[in-house]
Amino acid sequence: AVLPAQRLLLFGATGDLSQRMLLPSLFSLHAEKLIGPDLRIIGTARSELNDETFRAAAAEALDKFLSPEARVPDAIPSFLDRLHYVPLDASKPESFSALNAMMGGDPNQHTAIYLSTAPSLFGSTIAGLQSAGLDGPNCRIGLEKPLGHDLASSAVINDAVAAAYAEGQTFRIDHYLGKETVQNLLALRFGNRMFEPLWNAENIEHVQITVSETVGLEGRVSYYDGVGALRDMVQNHMLQLLALVAMEPPARFGPRSVRDEKVKVLRSLRRIDRATAAHETVRGQYTDGAVGGKAVPGYIDELKQPSNTETFVAVKAHVDNWRWHGVPFYLRTGKRLPNRHSEIVIQFREVPHSIFAGRGAVLQSNRLIIRLQPEENIRLMTMAKEPGLDRDGIRLREVPLDLSLTTAFAGFRRRIAYERLLLDLIEGDPTLFVRRDEVEAQWEWIDAIRDGWEAANVTPRPYSAGTWGPSAAIALTERDGVHWND
Ligand code: BG6
Repeated sequence: AVLPAQRLLLFGATGDLSQRMLLPSLFSLHAEKLIGPDLRIIGTARSELNDETFRAAAAEALDKFLSPEARVPDAIPSFLDRLHYVPLDASKPESFSALNAMMGGDPNQHTAIYLSTAPSLFGSTIAGLQSAGLDGPNCRIGLEKPLGHDLASSAVINDAVAAAYAEGQTFRIDHYLGKETVQNLLALRFGNRMFEPLWNAENIEHVQITVSETVGLEGRVSYYDGVGALRDMVQNHMLQLLALVAMEPPARFGPRSVRDEKVKVLRSLRRIDRATAAHETVRGQYTDGAVGGKAVPGYIDELKQPSNTETFVAVKAHVDNWRWHGVPFYLRTGKRLPNRHSEIVIQFREVPHSIFAGRGAVLQSNRLIIRLQPEENIRLMTMAKEPGLDRDGIRLREVPLDLSLTTAFAGFRRRIAYERLLLDLIEGDPTLFVRRDEVEAQWEWIDAIRDGWEAANVTPRPYSAGTWGPSAAIALTERDGVHWND
């Protein structure tokens, strides 16, 4: 059996992700006694901090970033006591000896390692970890995105990791998998009898997945401009959502079964390439406009130089297998859209025969809307009779069968996705992490689209900030008679 880690080694401990997400998440795991009392958390980064100054910085981060419900002031001192710090320059192998000393030289201790640094440092960091003996069978390593920018570069990173750690010790993070509602997709599909028999091409007409954001570049210019929406959001988060929606029932909720089923879906994605890219995808880039009543500058103005990076992308995807034959999966994501929400819409087909035809009633086909954020709820849009004694027919209206998870679980604190993922890394459960074959299938599909864009000269179309992307994104679905669920 895998034992919980006795120490957690956090690379990039002074970075933005650590401050905002990782330290607050670790604090909650501590406050709720989900981690053992002797787990030591050792932060490292280049800054010359020591235990004391790192603890002070951590206290500040908690003060700034813990949500009001997650604040447990009494638990802060004992949390800070767990924290240690070793300054370390990953590009200098000799600096790992200090880490070695701090780790007490026992390579058999169960150790969780978390790399939240630039991937360009992964290679040297892993070499250093090996030299410090931190690559034994009791170690496991969590890797933050971006794991490369295409299939070839991700293979280089994966190979470097594989030289030190077996696949079973490698925990690739996609923070969407840590979100409660994403896991709820599995609960909905496989914890209920009623959805699965309908979950196929015979009954479902199309699927929509939207992840919209209101933010723009947010000071991430240097990262984002080299990446764009397709690689930043679709390659990882959206394809994971698609895989969870489309996969066959796994035999059990465990790392092998779940990931085996996801990878089959990813490999069934119909290739979009130079012949189809211009027709099946839309690239967009925001110009100035207004979001939430506030005027905002365009992408180029923020960047201060010309760029062909897309901040919006819409794709019409197909999963070429029996279950999904002929069912389009429309994906769209973008920055500076009218609101921030993520949702999955399952559009069912119309009833085979309407008994109300000629009685004035118009039927709308059922829709299952799964909202991941900002609020979590699941709505099944159904037809119901409007009350009344109409002589000339029967009035039907679409009403939601509403499962508000936010209300049903009102007493529960809204968690950071990283709480789940850090706990699983510490305890050694990789179910909610991405396996190498999945990442590679994702990149393969994305690379073909990017090559297609280049070959067919598909450049981003402008859209005003605060709108739903370029009009071509609307046309992408409208030509199939489908409306985006705004
Ligand atoms: C990250 C992307 O992976 O996900 C960001 O790099 C994006 O650009 C973020 O804003 C969205 O995450 P969430 O949890 O806010 O939906």
